[in-house]
Amino acid sequence: MRQSAAAPGKIILFGEHAVVHGQPAIAVPLASVRVTAEVEDAGCGGGVTIQAPDVGVTLHVIGASAADDRLYDALVYPVEVALRALDVPMPDVCITVRSTIPIASGLGSGAALAAALIRAVGLAVNRPFDNATLNPLVYEVETRHHGTPSGIDNTVIVYEQPVYFVRGSGATPDTIETFRIATPFTLLVADSGQPSPTRLAVSDVRALYEAEPARIGAIFQRIGAITRAARAAIETESARRSTSSTIGTTLGSLMDENHALLRDLTVSSEKLDSLCAAARDAGAAGAKLSGGGRGGNLIALVTPKDADRVSAALREAGAANVIKTEVQ
Ligand code: PMV
Repeated sequence: MRQSAAAPGKIILFGEHAVVHGQPAIAVPLASVRVTAEVEDAGCGGGVTIQAPDVGVTLHVIGASAADDRLYDALVYPVEVALRALDVPMPDVCITVRSTIPIASGLGSGAALAAALIRAVGLAVNRPFDNATLNPLVYEVETRHHGTPSGIDNTVIVYEQPVYFVRGSGATPDTIETFRIATPFTLLVADSGQPSPTRLAVSDVRALYEAEPARIGAIFQRIGAITRAARAAIETESARRSTSSTIGTTLGSLMDENHALLRDLTVSSEKLDSLCAAARDAGAAGAKLSGGGRGGNLIALVTPKDADRVSAALREAGAANVIKTEVQ
């Protein structure tokens, strides 16, 4: 028998970095790119075998060691986490994973891979995971990649819905609210072509905050206010009744302001700044980096009619790749 599990990519719309320090963030699934994991119970050796044909890798979970480091973390560790959570003996199955999510560029490839693999193991033993059980397991895998992730990536990818997220602390649990997009909008997701060292950027921002708590704390708070205003614009009936240019202006200027604040937090780069400027010059309503920054992706808000022109301008300004997506 053959069964299939999947998980999408994600983009952070507002609130990255500030979310690590207790402010809200908004992320949406990026459904045009995904990881799929196909399970066949014919087996291809003893225990669970993982095939990743895109990268020419086959791994057996039995006997795999953490010494294989990145492959172990990405492919084997999620399977181990799933088996431990289910408390079942290792099944004899073959899982084939494929991904169209660009790796290490802030689009959630690691979390999506973990979510699809863990779901696949649940299917293999006939104990499918519900999302509330799956989410902390994907978070556990994420901590291995990222150290201290806020939890927003795994949440948006597992629930595959727009998420408003506030990290809990101590005994306070995370706030995870899924919400409706009243006014669909078009985004371009442009890859700067620079690697995005999320872990380093997060620890640099923490050090900056410790050195200058008043200034940096005020920036976090302003980013939180922007995120709340953006959610209101995206989900309210009044936004739906307003013209698309009104929501474009509101969201676009919130994006521009959020980008400037991220630059103040030292997580932009010259390339990200110049790509955002190129998008605005070509008619985008707003643009900002998305995710950890210092590289990785930016997002630009466009009308459907301007999308091709802005996309061409981004490529001309040096974007390595541009994905168009409808947020709805
Ligand atoms: O680089 P990404 O897309 O994984 O996003 C990181 C987002 C941060 O807020 C910078 C860190 C976090 O864990 O939320």
